Amino acid sequence: MSLDRSLDKILIIDFGSQFTQLIARRIRELGVYSEIISHKKIKSKQIDFSTKGIILSGGPLNVYQLNKYSFDKKIIQKGIPILGICFGHQILSKLNGGKVKQSRHREFGLANIYKKNQSILINNIFKNKKRIKVWMSHADQVSKLPKKFKVIASSQNSKFAIVENEIKKFYGVQFHPEVTHTEKGKKLISNFIFMICKIRRNWSSKDQKIKLIQEVKNEVGNKKVICALSGGVDSSVVAQLLNKAIGKKLYCIFVNTGLLRKNEEKQVVKTFKKKLKINLIYVNAEKEFMSKLSNVSDPEKKRKIIGNLFIKIFEKYAKKIKNVKYLAQGTLYPDLIESKSVTGSQTSKIKSHHNVGGLPKNMKLKLVEPLKYLFKDEVRKLGLELNLSKEIISRHPFPGPGLAIRMPGIVTREKIRILKEADNYFIQSLKDYGLYDHIWQAYAALLPVKTVGVMGDNRTYEYLCLLRAITSQDGMTADFYEFKKSFSQMISNKIVNSIKGINRVVYDITSKPPSTIELE
Ligand code: XMP
Repeated sequence: MSLDRSLDKILIIDFGSQFTQLIARRIRELGVYSEIISHKKIKSKQIDFSTKGIILSGGPLNVYQLNKYSFDKKIIQKGIPILGICFGHQILSKLNGGKVKQSRHREFGLANIYKKNQSILINNIFKNKKRIKVWMSHADQVSKLPKKFKVIASSQNSKFAIVENEIKKFYGVQFHPEVTHTEKGKKLISNFIFMICKIRRNWSSKDQKIKLIQEVKNEVGNKKVICALSGGVDSSVVAQLLNKAIGKKLYCIFVNTGLLRKNEEKQVVKTFKKKLKINLIYVNAEKEFMSKLSNVSDPEKKRKIIGNLFIKIFEKYAKKIKNVKYLAQGTLYPDLIESKSVTGSQTSKIKSHHNVGGLPKNMKLKLVEPLKYLFKDEVRKLGLELNLSKEIISRHPFPGPGLAIRMPGIVTREKIRILKEADNYFIQSLKDYGLYDHIWQAYAALLPVKTVGVMGDNRTYEYLCLLRAITSQDGMTADFYEFKKSFSQMISNKIVNSIKGINRVVYDITSKPPSTIELE
């Protein structure tokens, strides 16, 4: 990666933390440009006057495992302010002559830190409070402070929870200010970048758009790209971004899997082909998907089958278009985190998201994933910047494997028909009641259970419909939405009375974790 020399920036040196992208995100939220670069790749001479501050990320390493990391020590002699976070704090201390050792008490989760001294870094953070809550995740800690450093705050187990060397403008924090659980964490980052690094605001969604369009142009040149358009927010934004970047070299392929929401295929064709004038190829593959999924009930198998079939279809159409080199996808940062370890840390795989984990190893097309370091809300802002309608942008996320993972067990046409209707009633009612935009994602699912009911004087024996509605920031954690009784009553009546095949409605009241958002 080469550094952008023109724009003032905060440079984030990554030591493999799960949260490095969150640091970048917080800085973007503060309206400032930042770049992430691996500790293995950055050399002091690459850093010029446009770098106004450096953040050393956390990471799974130990400062004494010298063979596992490399870091150009001259970086700390450049006179640029540095904030070390967790591992970054430890290495900054060590390089300045301090010591690090394994903590007697490993700290994971929330801890209180107590103010010991004043510092610009904690300006307006403690105010009148003696202590604030921060989020810790470490086994090692600084045990001896370098000369000319002073303690700003301590926790019960970490004496050096915040430290500073005011002259050199070196700051270290043992906790993670970038995660939302840390009280005033964003304020701390803001103090560092504005008050200490004195950088000015220089970043917006418009700049983001310009940068991404340029990056796509640089990456694919004048080669042809196919894009997996699903009609959801992410792929719509990718399609429009590529449309702006490469115009007719983009071929969007929209596959009707038969597992879409009610009327979705019609809406997608109308919006993308007719309104946005994007090159769109509509493929009706309903029959193929149904035949491959017949009698399959294992969730991971379903996901893999759907993912593989998608890719096969893309490859087939790519061949028809001729000389296609790239496949564009709307992968977001949380998708990467959940599908595989992007940082080299021990993140375990939860599900094979079809746009990441389900790709066959021998796939012939190169991937373009321009949104892969963004979070959902940032993608939405980008979409508006790209002139996509509010209706597309505020759409709830919809998974690639579609309704197949919203009906545990075997997928049948009859179940799909029932589920499409139930989902449509639910979503339409959320819109009618003005609730849709307060909810991050909502859907109906069909459980493979039949129960007894009574309608009129008749006994019924029909499927169970599960409704799920959650609030979330980024899909990585979620809480269930609390409906008023009147809404719950109305929607359950509407579904049971109007859809033949459902005689009972239940509401999912689990958060994520321990559950996931989708059922499979
Ligand atoms: P989970 O169920 O993992 O879902 O908590 C988190 C978010 O990701 C969406 N999701 C997917 N999106 N392809 C996608 O494009 C997939 O295979 C996939 N699986 C889940 C899910 O709807 C939720 O928003």
